[in-house]
Amino acid sequence: MQGRFHFYEGYDMKETTFPIRVFKFLGIKYLFVSNASGGVNPDFKVGDLMIINDHINFFPSNPLIGKNDNKLGVRFPDMSEAYDKNLISIIKDIAKKHKIKIQEGVYVGVSGPTFETPAEYKFFRIIGGDAVGMSTVPEVIVARHSEMKVFAISVITDLGIVGEVLEVTHEEVQKAAEEAEPKMSFLIKKLIKKI
Ligand code: HPA
Repeated sequence: MQGRFHFYEGYDMKETTFPIRVFKFLGIKYLFVSNASGGVNPDFKVGDLMIINDHINFFPSNPLIGKNDNKLGVRFPDMSEAYDKNLISIIKDIAKKHKIKIQEGVYVGVSGPTFETPAEYKFFRIIGGDAVGMSTVPEVIVARHSEMKVFAISVITDLGIVGEVLEVTHEEVQKAAEEAEPKMSFLIKKLIKKI
């Protein structure tokens, strides 16, 4: 996809995730997803890449709420390995081989569109997050409902670290994301070759 639908744009959870249903019907087996996020792990720097190894759904909803269509997936999907461990291990090996620094952690998905207050960034760190962003979690839930394997990677575009929270602008987020993009595309292309 070039771009995606975001909950903060006013699409509901089912509209946001509709493309994933289309992918499933096209026979697609893997979802590779990327995003921009604010780092709350104090070891992170702007421009870092973070492999998402788990998430916390902090959206006010869930795309699977409502009557379940058993043809699409089960009523209560397992989320114990939402992000495929094998794909994570492959990408870590690739990054190591090519000396590309890569972080790993938990992505907290929020509705936005406001960036976080310092208290909210602190809270997301305390509850176990490493980065916070406004996408991905709905799509990953639907991909897992559809039994697709998921790999997700995040560019840390700003920091929400206690004592280091600065003003965040959309322009800065876009700039950091654009700068990290070649590194990310390189890793994903190598990953595709290995599966
Ligand atoms: N918070 C939420 N979403 C984001 C951020 C952030 O700091 N940076 C990029 N997307």
